[in-house]
Amino acid sequence: MTTFRIAPSILSADFARLGEEVRNVITAGADIIHFDVMDNHYVPNLTIGPLVCQAIRPHVKAPIDVHLMVKPVDRIIPDFAKAGADIITFHPEASEHIDRTLQLIKDNGCKAGLVFNPGTPMHYLDHVMDKLDMILIMSVNPGFGGQSFIPEALNKIAYARRKIDESGRDILLEVDGGIKVENIAAAARAGADTFVAGSAIFGQPDYKAVIDAMRAQLATV
Ligand code: DX5
Ligand code: ZN
Repeated sequence: MTTFRIAPSILSADFARLGEEVRNVITAGADIIHFDVMDNHYVPNLTIGPLVCQAIRPHVKAPIDVHLMVKPVDRIIPDFAKAGADIITFHPEASEHIDRTLQLIKDNGCKAGLVFNPGTPMHYLDHVMDKLDMILIMSVNPGFGGQSFIPEALNKIAYARRKIDESGRDILLEVDGGIKVENIAAAARAGADTFVAGSAIFGQPDYKAVIDAMRAQLATV
């Protein structure tokens, strides 16, 4: 049976109370903290860096999944590893040398993943499967929370699931963007096992109620 993981994106949390927010969402049943890093260059928004990762690290034992939407990407990777990141993912368009960036993440003691935008072809997987711990399929264009799920992402999830199963490796398949109680089961049926949700969770007063409702949907898959 698949283990499903829920990864709230703190992009939609109250940044003035971030320690409390990450504790609350883990207490409410979340598995992973999804940490969105935007640079106002690779994506048109600016968010948080290693200092904030370091600040929330003592508040939760759960893995911190750092999603780097920055270009260039290599220089900042050791800083996030030192700040307590467990998983670091990046976009192939943001690295001149994808294999080297994956190795850099692993050399810094973190799990490594590649992120695919809605328009990014999947062939970037072809020669690096042996270095991946996570594949992240974007179901919105990166840069903002609260956007609508792009249905074509389901085909990309299904493709990535086939590649993972063929590889026989233990690779998490994460989906990010517009995930809600209403569509989480469709993403799981396509093959995703890890679900980022920002506005759907932090936009509601009762985090446990949302996470429970998501798990109830996942139980139907
Ligand atoms: C988008 C980010 C997402 C975003 C998800 O660039 O990578 O993680 O915060 O937010 P929702 O769930 O609101 O679409
Ligand atoms: Zn993200």
